[in-house]
Amino acid sequence: MTAFETPPFAGASPSEGAAAPLHVAVVMDGNGRWAKQRGLPRSLGHSAGVEALKRTVEAAPRLNIRWLTVFGFSTENWSRPAAEVAELMALPKRYFETDIARLDREGVRVRVIGRREGLSSELVRLVDDAQARTERNDRFHLNIAFNYGGQADITDAVRRFAEDVAAGRCKPQDLDERLFGSLLATSGSPPPDLIVRPSGEQRLSNFLLWEAAYAELVFQDVLWPDYGEQHLREALTQFAARDRRYGAIAADNVLATG
Ligand code: FPP
Repeated sequence: MTAFETPPFAGASPSEGAAAPLHVAVVMDGNGRWAKQRGLPRSLGHSAGVEALKRTVEAAPRLNIRWLTVFGFSTENWSRPAAEVAELMALPKRYFETDIARLDREGVRVRVIGRREGLSSELVRLVDDAQARTERNDRFHLNIAFNYGGQADITDAVRRFAEDVAAGRCKPQDLDERLFGSLLATSGSPPPDLIVRPSGEQRLSNFLLWEAAYAELVFQDVLWPDYGEQHLREALTQFAARDRRYGAIAADNVLATG
């Protein structure tokens, strides 16, 4: 059994506080506004967003973060103009072509979570290669959510489970939170301790809906292309001040309630 086959919050105790997040997830938002403020095309906002991603991937291990999950393209982003969708599709392709050898050398395991349907066969090949090449790495885990939606992922998991039941491979009563979590695209990663969203927006936008159950949320007033180590440090400082109770009560309250 791996460490993450346990339910997300099993083993955590209310008194452990929020010392350091093992897993940070980021909604990389604000590329369009960043470009607009400079009178630039949105595509340049997205390429500046890739640079911010690279800075964050470098900074995270220095801050003792072991898992980083970033939202690169949502199942709803297909409704953007075709030219912008094409530009967004080109980003991971370029990123893998230029950066995968270095990521591999640095011990980064890369996983791309999300539906493969709709992606070009070239991008699927690059994704498969990047995952296979880095699958034995364990120093740092980078999950890229691409063509990902929390609702889509939950729907896909339910469909797979229903198919297994229909085929007699398992029974409805086999389903519990642990089994369900293992059917999601994030299976194998611990749940995010902290979800960060820059750009001033305060919503999850269909990101990690199941996994976010006990994540702390931090919203920051910076556009993603300007994001750097200092902003990540500030998010960690806010996280450290949180009181994580996982539905229980703080240890010093137990006596008070008798
Ligand atoms: C949302 O900002 C951002 C996106 C839809 C794309 C985010 C992608 C990246 C930062 C790069 C991904 C790189 C890889 C390698 C996958 P927005 O465009 O909605 O900004 P706005 O709200 O200001 O318009």
